[in-house]
Amino acid sequence: MNGRMDRLELNRLGLRVRVVQAPMAGGVSTPALVAAVSQAGGLGSLGAAYLTPRQIAQAGAAVRARTDRPFAVNLFIPGPLPEVTAEEVAAAVADLAPLHAELGLMPPALPGQVQEDFEAQFRAVLELRPAVFSFAFGQLGAEKVAALRAAGILVMGTATSGLEASALARNGVDAVVVQGGAAGGHRGGWTHDGLEDTLHLTRVAVRAVNVPVIAAGGLMDAADVRAALGAGASLAQCGTAFLRAREAGTSAPYRAALAAARVGDTTLTRAFSGKAARGLANRVTASVGRPLPYPLQNALTRDLRAAASRAGRPEFLSLWAGEGAHRGREGTAAELLAGLWP
Ligand SMILES: Cc1cc2nc3c(=O)[nH]c(=O)nc-3n(C[C@H](O)[C@H](O)[C@H](O)COP(=O)(O)O)c2cc1C
Repeated sequence: MNGRMDRLELNRLGLRVRVVQAPMAGGVSTPALVAAVSQAGGLGSLGAAYLTPRQIAQAGAAVRARTDRPFAVNLFIPGPLPEVTAEEVAAAVADLAPLHAELGLMPPALPGQVQEDFEAQFRAVLELRPAVFSFAFGQLGAEKVAALRAAGILVMGTATSGLEASALARNGVDAVVVQGGAAGGHRGGWTHDGLEDTLHLTRVAVRAVNVPVIAAGGLMDAADVRAALGAGASLAQCGTAFLRAREAGTSAPYRAALAAARVGDTTLTRAFSGKAARGLANRVTASVGRPLPYPLQNALTRDLRAAASRAGRPEFLSLWAGEGAHRGREGTAAELLAGLWP
């Protein structure tokens, strides 16, 4: 244990493996996956951004029914809702309408509620009292950081640049997750869509902040994890490496697409949610050129994604994956975790 680990009080977490299973909202990071990783000595994370407060409580209870080990819960920090014109909505709908037609759906329409109520989600997390709360897409107000602290919950924020890492540290987080450009899923920062090399960003952040740094992005095996720790990270956070875990909620067509992935098959796209995210390229990433800003596009594509999942049509699914997707493996979460540790 180095000094940084001690400052994070990871001794309190009692991790045997310095790997965090990344939170993966949208059904991938199931309670079964989270519990299996935590039970095997890593830190499992529940991606709760799209869950209602009630679902957060239920998912947390489901993790606790499987393990008494610590785990993390993760939410997205909401920004102000973007203003869009009727023309912009019409253009986004026109891009999606032909894809809808192929699945036998009416053209999409914006629902009344475009995202979950963050304040209510946050209260549910406080009540659940996981060992760790992690967040992406912004900063958490000082009051909320204090409330988490008072509840004995460690706080981890996500940065995609050294400047964001410094801002989070000033804000009082216990650790900063730095997300390199190779990472799967949404870019987790809030000031820009930087795509820095994971190890470089780790070194920059380690110099810039006085809290532990957790490296994320493209870490697919034990050598990658060792390199991240060698660059000064206290922990490695891995998402794509767990996508094909038996316990993950990854759908069958998503798994098949991952199994077939080759080098260079991922792309950065706003087509699904309006926010830049990395996933396997497909019909949607190629044909949706006028997305609404986040979270409006996310709400607008919900029906398409649900119908595609039911119909087993990966060409219409958001296949979030990092640049290391082609190096992913199948197995139990415990087997995959073991492959990430010496
Ligand atoms: C399917 C998927 C969903 C993700 N969802 C979230 C999320 O809900 N919250 C979050 O902070 N990060 C999320 N991420 C990003 C991860 O936290 C992490 O930065 C990324 O997985 C690391 O890169 P890797 O995929 O190459 O391991 C997601 C990543 C993937 C692949």
